[in-house]
Amino acid sequence: MDHWQGTSTSIRERRSVKKFTGDPLDTETIQELLELAVLAPNHRMTEPWAFIVMGPETRRAYGAIKGESRARRLDDPKVGTRVRDQTIASMEGLPTMIAFLQRLDDDPTVREEDFATVYMGMQNVLIGATARGLGTHVKTGAILDEEPVRRLLQVEEDHRVVALVHLGVPDELPPARPRKPATHCTRWLP
Ligand SMILES: Cc1cc2nc3c(=O)[nH]c(=O)nc-3n(C[C@H](O)[C@H](O)[C@H](O)COP(=O)(O)O)c2cc1C
Repeated sequence: MDHWQGTSTSIRERRSVKKFTGDPLDTETIQELLELAVLAPNHRMTEPWAFIVMGPETRRAYGAIKGESRARRLDDPKVGTRVRDQTIASMEGLPTMIAFLQRLDDDPTVREEDFATVYMGMQNVLIGATARGLGTHVKTGAILDEEPVRRLLQVEEDHRVVALVHLGVPDELPPARPRKPATHCTRWLP
């Protein structure tokens, strides 16, 4: 497969994977993928990223925080306990979870560019993972900015968690979510 075909196939075949096999990932594979993240375009070469590979204990603790938060929104405490326990089990059961962090620059313009850079790095990981037959899922939410998660992940004062990425061998590939072709949202100016 030539370079164009390989890259476009990986982009086209990427899905947000919800079900993973129990196969563990080795640290080399994870680190290799993260090496792709740091190759993202980066204005001023601020290199604003940091990555936290969350092991089973940390994922379990994260599941407890997330599960508690979900449970608090439910009226029935029994259902709440079930939801919390399911959340813990599903987070712990993931093959890998990586937190993508951004160092927060004082300058709002740099901060915005850095946010974009972290996401471009993340996309490198998603595409690289797909090329290796792995699945990914980007997860965000207000909870990532809340104190219990920041404490768990030992996030420094001048950093924020921009997303969590689930990573592993896909057990099931979701169908492609339909998109309007780019021709529908492209204007060509003379
Ligand atoms: C910035 C960002 C945040 C996302 N956050 C979540 C999330 O919190 N939960 C979730 O289930 N999916 C999340 N997703 C995944 C999208 O829902 C998914 O990309 C979309 O449904 C299209 O499906 P596809 O990735 O399989 O093409 C996020 C994606 C992006 C780019």
